[in-house]
Amino acid sequence: MKEQKICNSPLLDTRARPVRDLRISITDRCNFRCVYCMPRTAFGADHQFLARDDLLSFEEITRLTKLFADRGVLKVRLTGGEPLLRRDVERLIELLANIPSVEVALTTNGSLLAKRAKSLRDAGLSRITVSLDALDDVVFRRMNDADFPVARVLEGIDAAASVGLTPIKINTVVKRGTNENEMLPLARHFRGSGHILRFIEYMDVGSSNQWNMKEVIPSSEVVRRISAEFPLEPVDPNYTGEVAERWRYRDGAGEIGVISSVTQAFCATCSRARLSTEGKIYTCLFANQGHDLRALLRTGRSDEELAAALDNLWRQRTDRYSEIRNAELSAAKKIEMSYIGG
Ligand code: GTP
Ligand code: 5AD
Ligand code: SF4
Ligand code: SF4
Repeated sequence: MKEQKICNSPLLDTRARPVRDLRISITDRCNFRCVYCMPRTAFGADHQFLARDDLLSFEEITRLTKLFADRGVLKVRLTGGEPLLRRDVERLIELLANIPSVEVALTTNGSLLAKRAKSLRDAGLSRITVSLDALDDVVFRRMNDADFPVARVLEGIDAAASVGLTPIKINTVVKRGTNENEMLPLARHFRGSGHILRFIEYMDVGSSNQWNMKEVIPSSEVVRRISAEFPLEPVDPNYTGEVAERWRYRDGAGEIGVISSVTQAFCATCSRARLSTEGKIYTCLFANQGHDLRALLRTGRSDEELAAALDNLWRQRTDRYSEIRNAELSAAKKIEMSYIGG
């Protein structure tokens, strides 16, 4: 991790949470149609994606990121949609990696990674997270709903490892009745590889995935099922506010993580801000409204004016959706994850 910038007066929200992590969605498009994220019923051929002029330019993203870094952000994560679909993302990574205090990470579905791992690393990317919901090709294709073969994603993971984008994290969203039988094969496959497999509880993010609590597998059950074959023990977090709870194999074959935003909310330490593809800041993954910074960027405002807007909106932040989740909130219109960024 790079050196931390010391701020004179720390920027805190209404619940005394700092801003540490900026997640930037650089495209709302994806070549997958994962059933829990961009189901074809809502993201079919007639879905209207953002127009090119609506997207923040790399220079606009970099300008905002510098201001966030001055306010305490230490990690920037590029997401989408599928971030590798944005043309020339390496140029953006170069710009961001030049900001002294921030580490640049990226979350991808891995489909284009085999070809791009080296150029991403050369541009200054520090770490990569790859989404992978199954090892079985039939189950994998069913979940990505784009007939994409699992072998190509595994090649991408190998390519990322060979250029040193490590430790690699592998994100698996678990849906009961869909890929629950893939948990153990995935654990077996990645044990001893140095990669960190993380099981994510299926969330009610967005409004299009027909989320149902019955399809959520609680992390406690995940740990129990993996531990029955490969005994696990808990590990302390790497830092305050870490999303994943860490567990390690007792036999020394590495660690896994579980992300329990449904059964064990972690809002109390949530230090994440999200910048959407078209330049809106969202202070929660489950927000239904963002704060438009593009309008400020494109009307000639100074850095001081932009900084004041950021300070204002963070100081007023009250979000704690996962702590207060209920049927009514869950049914309300929410922003899709592919737009706001995972
Ligand atoms: P590192 O600790 O740097 O590896 O990053 P991370 O744990 O934030 O990793 P990652 O970006 O892969 O996040 C993992 C997943 O956790 C995301 O894809 C989301 O599904 C979920 N997640 C991340 N942040 C939040 C959050 O603020 N709220 C909720 N409810 N879920 C989140
Ligand atoms: N629940 C949990 N995780 C999700 N992701 C996308 N949609 C959901 C959901 N409904 C995860 C993806 C990816 C990251 C960007 O977010 O699997 O790892
Ligand atoms: Fe695309 Fe990732 Fe959403 Fe799947 S989870 S549809 S890969 S953005
Ligand atoms: Fe943060 Fe909102 Fe997720 Fe809670 S629900 S952890 S406030 S993003």
